[in-house]
Amino acid sequence: MLYLLDTADLVAIRRSYDLYPIAGVTTNPTIMARENTKFLPRINEIRSIIGVKAMLHVQALSKTADKIVAEAEYLNEKVGGNLYIKIPVIPEGIKAMKILKEKGVKTTATAIFTPQQALMAAVAGAEFLAPYVNRLDNMCVDGASIVREIVQLLETYHLPAKVLAASFKSVEQVHKVSLYGCQAITVSPEILDALLKHPMTDASVSQFVQDWEKVYGEGKVTTDLG
Ligand code: G3P
Repeated sequence: MLYLLDTADLVAIRRSYDLYPIAGVTTNPTIMARENTKFLPRINEIRSIIGVKAMLHVQALSKTADKIVAEAEYLNEKVGGNLYIKIPVIPEGIKAMKILKEKGVKTTATAIFTPQQALMAAVAGAEFLAPYVNRLDNMCVDGASIVREIVQLLETYHLPAKVLAASFKSVEQVHKVSLYGCQAITVSPEILDALLKHPMTDASVSQFVQDWEKVYGEGKVTTDLG
């Protein structure tokens, strides 16, 4: 399972990168607009934090294939590194994925709400497929089941694309897609922290420290003892 961060907040990216096994960062136009800062400098700041080997997913805004391709080439020139161009699964987007595959530019199909959208994007050559789990759940559709079906389709047709599930609002949603073999998730820094949270873990750690310090002294750790 690959963990990615769905944010352009530099403080959050630095902290999560320091603590967790993060494979990369995803952004979208809404996330970038929330930061209300200059686009390219911010993307390049993210790149400098995560390094050239980590995945960085950046979305194209154009509505026609030729313009999406132009954006993809521009971003590859200006950002570089292990870059994925996010492209929505509209007809012109699928066309752009085909063209970019031929050119060796990596793409992530995004705004996926059905398994058939994901299948076509995978056949067109997208490396990652991003279904929106919470937005599906909010439409009374089980988002995790859609992820499971996409995983199954990729296996059935021996397609190399990976599922990069997105739009999570709960640990339960993450848990379900991970049980279904989803290869990657992108989550907010808050959900990433929540994946580890458990009151019994905190209570156990406190108890261990309390028992130890009664015998070995306050603040002492293994390296303090002979
Ligand atoms: O990056 C796309 C996805 O993460 C959107 O999430 O929370 O806006 O539904 P959300």
